[in-house]
Amino acid sequence: MSEPLVLGIETSCDETAVGIVKGRKLLANVISSSVEEHARFGGVVPEIASRAHLEAMQQVISAALIEAKVSLQDIDAFGVTAGPGLIGALLVGTSAASGLALALDKPLFGVNHLSSHIAVDSLDEDRILEPAIGLLVSGGHSSILKVSNLATNVEVLGATIDDAAGEAFDKIARLLELDFPGGPAIDRLAQSGNPDAITFPRGLTHAHDLQDHRYDFSFSGLKTAVSRYLKETPGAVRADVAASFQEAVVDVLLTKAISAAQAEGFESLIIAGGVAANSRLRTQAEQRCQEAKIRLRTPPKALCTDNGAMVAALTSLMVQAGETPTGVGFSADSSSGLERLLWR
Ligand code: KG4
Ligand code: ZN
Repeated sequence: MSEPLVLGIETSCDETAVGIVKGRKLLANVISSSVEEHARFGGVVPEIASRAHLEAMQQVISAALIEAKVSLQDIDAFGVTAGPGLIGALLVGTSAASGLALALDKPLFGVNHLSSHIAVDSLDEDRILEPAIGLLVSGGHSSILKVSNLATNVEVLGATIDDAAGEAFDKIARLLELDFPGGPAIDRLAQSGNPDAITFPRGLTHAHDLQDHRYDFSFSGLKTAVSRYLKETPGAVRADVAASFQEAVVDVLLTKAISAAQAEGFESLIIAGGVAANSRLRTQAEQRCQEAKIRLRTPPKALCTDNGAMVAALTSLMVQAGETPTGVGFSADSSSGLERLLWR
C-alpha cells in the first residue's frame, strides 16, 4: 500500500497521544498530558499515568479523527507503542489499539517507542534520510544509532551508562528548584545565562574513555559537579549554572554524534526525542553540522517530545515496506531496547 491511512497510539509515559498520517503526510496530532498531576511528586507516578490514559483515550482518538477529517472506518492500519515504557501505561494503549483493530478488522502493528522518535523525521519531508546517524535523547534514553532503514534496520552504536540526557536535565532542574519536567525549565532559564561561565565536566570524552566508550554517554559526574558547585558557591548565578550545565550536555551529545557520522561515512544526522526540543542543542547542532558538512534534521519541537504522530509515522513506513502486522494478543515490554522494532 503506497499511502496508507494510519492511526498511531502512544501511552508509554504521561502523554495520551494519537496521531494520524496518510503515507508520510501528517494529518492530526492530539496530545493529552497528565504532567500537571505528577508535578508535585517531582516525577511521573505510574499509577496516576495509567488512570489518566484510561480517562483520556476515547476523547483523544475522537479529537484526532476530527482534526484529520477522517472516520475510524477509513483507517487502513493501527499502530501502537508496545515498549519501552511504563507497563501499566503501555497496556492501556495496546488494549485500546487491539480493541479498535479487532472491531474494525484492520491490521495492528506494535512498535518500538525509541525508533518511533527517529521515524517521525520522515513526516512531511521530501525525502527520507537513510542511512543516517540517529541521536536519540529523551527522558529515558540517550543513544547514538546507526539508522540504515527507519522501519527495519536500526542498530545501537552507543548509549548512556547511567542517566539519560533528559533525566540529567530533570535532576539538575530539581537542584535549581525549577518545575518538573526540568528540560524546558532549564532551557528557559539558560537563555539569560552565560554558557561559558562554569566549565563542567564532559563525561566519557577523555582519550582513555574513548577505547571502550567511544559513543557512550555518562551524565552522573556532571550531576555531581553541578551539585557540588551549588553547595560550594554561595550566591551562585542560577542562570549561569543552567546555561553551563546545558552547554556541557549539548557539547558531549554533538561531539559524539558528529564523530559517529564521520566514522561511519554517513552524511546525515537526525536528532530526536524530548531533549531534541532544547533550543541550545538545536542551534549548536545547526552550526556544528554545517562546519562538518553533515545534513542535519531535527523534527519540529512539538514532534520531539512524546506524541502519536511518531507511532503513526513508523507504522506507516512498516506498512509501506510490506511488513507483517503484529495482530492482537501481544504483550507490551516495558524494558525493550532496539532489538525489536516491530512486535511479532
Ligand atoms: O521523549 P520524551 O518526551 O519522553 C521520553 O520518551 O522520555 O522526553 C522527555 C524528556 C524529559 O526529561 C524532559 O525534561 C526533556 O525530554 N525535555 C527537554 C526539553 N523539552 C523536553 N530537555 C531539554 N530541553 C528542552 N527544551
Ligand atoms: Zn519518548
